[in-house]
Amino acid sequence: MWPLPDSDPFCVSSGAKIFATTESQFNNVTMNTPLNPNKALWEKGDFTRIAGTMRESGEALVRQLGITKGLRVLDLGCGDGTTAIPAAKLGADVLGVDIARNLVEAGNRRAREQGLTNCRFQEGDASNLEQLPDHSFDVVISIFGAMFAPKPFEVAKEMVRVTRRGGRIVMGNWIPNDPTLVAQILKISSNYTPPPPEGFVSPMTWGIEGNVIERFAGGGVPAEKISFARDTFTFNFAGPPSAYVDEFRKYYGPTMNAFEAAEKSGRAADLQRELEELFNRQNKSKDATSIPATFLRVTVAV
Ligand SMILES: C[S@@+](CC[C@H](N)C(=O)[O-])C[C@H]1O[C@@H](n2cnc3c(N)ncnc32)[C@H](O)[C@@H]1O
Repeated sequence: MWPLPDSDPFCVSSGAKIFATTESQFNNVTMNTPLNPNKALWEKGDFTRIAGTMRESGEALVRQLGITKGLRVLDLGCGDGTTAIPAAKLGADVLGVDIARNLVEAGNRRAREQGLTNCRFQEGDASNLEQLPDHSFDVVISIFGAMFAPKPFEVAKEMVRVTRRGGRIVMGNWIPNDPTLVAQILKISSNYTPPPPEGFVSPMTWGIEGNVIERFAGGGVPAEKISFARDTFTFNFAGPPSAYVDEFRKYYGPTMNAFEAAEKSGRAADLQRELEELFNRQNKSKDATSIPATFLRVTVAV
């Protein structure tokens, strides 16, 4: 088992329940209604700013999945459609499900703007897809999506339940302690973040093959139906690495959390410096930012 950090920027509340505190939060919830921290994390900031730097790899990945016209595809934790929209462009009937209302709206807007009538987005939680019937999709895709839902055993069970027999699940999961970008952002950020509440399961555990096997076994899928490959996603940003760090600081919920915690302890400048060093070190472009990151691609034959 890989050692995992004992603090985690993917966890917004450190133990206590969080409550609606801002005007916009009050628009959607009654006063003192506990918020879902998982939803709050991803509705924070604006993930579309980061997603915009992931489009080429999203398209390249989808091209490899054998998507054909009429295939029923579910994209779980779809964000604003980095993989859902390319799948629809290949002719599949695509449903994107995401916990973040702002990202669902952004996905529907993008689909509309691109004239795609075979791609729609709706709110939902990968831990409980009760609104979706059994065996209703040929392919379930979840690229850095379902890994962020709590209750990983429920997530695996739900993904298997909604996939038709003979269908496929394809997950992309970041790998704990990997030397490339995303795992290193987590590692650095975790040194500035308070410990998560007891029982919190780090999303990064989805990047460990043994955990993936165990979770899908809970959904009734034997290990021999699961295959693993290392793959690469490249983040491309038009400005220099330091400006890209600023995008994460301003718009990416987990990094925003890390900076909020670092500001409280007077260490925000250290966090900024460490992230800039990381982004500069990993940058492959001379005049902009291009950073490859390794992930675990999981394919499950259902
Ligand atoms: C790193 S983003 C990736 C988004 C998209 N798949 C992409 O590649 O651009 C993680 C996504 O997972 C979504 N997510 C997190 N927890 C979720 C849950 N419990 N159910 C559904 N979606 C979830 C977030 O809202 C966010 O859109």
